[in-house]
Amino acid sequence: MSAYKVGYFVGSLSSTSINRLLSTALIRLAPEELEFTEIPIGNLPLYSPDFDEDYPPEARALKDTLAGCDAVLFVTPEYNRSIPGALKNAIDWASRPWGQNSFDHMPAAVIGASIGQIGTAVAQQSLRGVLTFCNARQMTAPEAYIYFRPEFYTDSGEVTDEETAVFLRAFMREFHTHVERVLTVLPRR
Ligand code: FNR
Repeated sequence: MSAYKVGYFVGSLSSTSINRLLSTALIRLAPEELEFTEIPIGNLPLYSPDFDEDYPPEARALKDTLAGCDAVLFVTPEYNRSIPGALKNAIDWASRPWGQNSFDHMPAAVIGASIGQIGTAVAQQSLRGVLTFCNARQMTAPEAYIYFRPEFYTDSGEVTDEETAVFLRAFMREFHTHVERVLTVLPRR
């Protein structure tokens, strides 16, 4: 099996983010063929088309990192039943300048954790709409709406609840399969 570079976004800027912890858990449980690089979003200015002629260094770094990725994974909270602003801002940067959309044909998956039982379902639907417009090739199943239970995770992202570990491992295995399938018909390089 081939190795794939996965850029991952954590949609939270919180120093105690449960989604960051979830991302660590996912990386631990993922097939070894997936190599992960976090794509930072907290250092980006707010996007404006005024920058299209000359992107600032943080935004150029974002696009350069995405250009080197085979796939993207979004691990995000839900804010007010939608996508956190910092994450949407990063997507807007990556989608521009016009004609240089970094997500075009990119294999992608979405997952998120919430302290509420809806488990980021509404934010994920919103994010999926955005990624559809950006022409990313999304994994549509399985869906993963994670109701976060702190007792199921260690501080270093080990999943101590067996059922949760099985589910998250299967999610990442499916993601690997999805990436392989998409890149078979739409090679990035
Ligand atoms: C939230 N939270 C939240 N939860 C949810 O299930 N649906 C929602 O719409 C919202 N809205 C919301 C807005 C704002 C501004 C904040 C700060 C929080 C609660 C959210 O699930 C909780 O804070 C998580 O811990 C956020 O994830 P991170 O930042 O810990 O990864």
